[in-house]
Amino acid sequence: MRIDIISVVPELLHSPLQHSIMKRAQEKGLLEVHIHDLRHFGLGKHRQVDDYPFGGGAGMVLRPEPLAQCLDTLMAQHTYDEIIYLTPDGQRFDQKMANRLSLKDNLLLIAGHYKGIDERIRQHYVTLEISIGDYVLSGGELPALVVVDAVGRLIPGVLNDETSALLDSFQDGLLAPPVYTRPANFRGWEVPQVLRSGNFKAIEAWRYEQALQRTRQRRPDLLLDEEAE
Ligand code: ADE
Repeated sequence: MRIDIISVVPELLHSPLQHSIMKRAQEKGLLEVHIHDLRHFGLGKHRQVDDYPFGGGAGMVLRPEPLAQCLDTLMAQHTYDEIIYLTPDGQRFDQKMANRLSLKDNLLLIAGHYKGIDERIRQHYVTLEISIGDYVLSGGELPALVVVDAVGRLIPGVLNDETSALLDSFQDGLLAPPVYTRPANFRGWEVPQVLRSGNFKAIEAWRYEQALQRTRQRRPDLLLDEEAE
């Protein structure tokens, strides 16, 4: 999968993609992330990318020309399955959307800043608007990284243990069950006997029961969502 990200603060994007699973995904050639500095397409000698909002009000808005030029340049070279704008008023990101996006070949992400981007870019270029939650961040870079990470780790072959993504919270509509590692007894706190029994059927049943119980207690809305579908 290829993911392009357009940003006015590209420095924010580099480090998180150079470690751990995202690093491995790129090294394995399963994920390519290309970061584009919008300022390269800025106007005039100051490479201006933002301006005051028509009608007044606080905050700056990203102008349409640099964005359109950057998008046109990229779209002339690649065909994108989705052009995604990260924004608090977008569709709420969840595991289902991550799964769906992990099947795509080419994604283009626009990280806005300031007050947002000119509405005409949203109308004429953007195909999907994503919010990572009901809170406002100072830019779309962290949300873009959240999407890249959640989607990237689902690409087949990225995780070593192919089953481990399947055991994640939300993957089957449930929160994940508790996990334990050695020592079996830590300060007198024991690991549940069933996990040490070697009885894989019993372990699977225990994990399912725990996942169900945890979901009922913490996120009953997830169980209602399942019923509604
Ligand atoms: N940009 C600022 N806040 C955001 C959010 N919650 N989700 C996506 N993009 C954003």
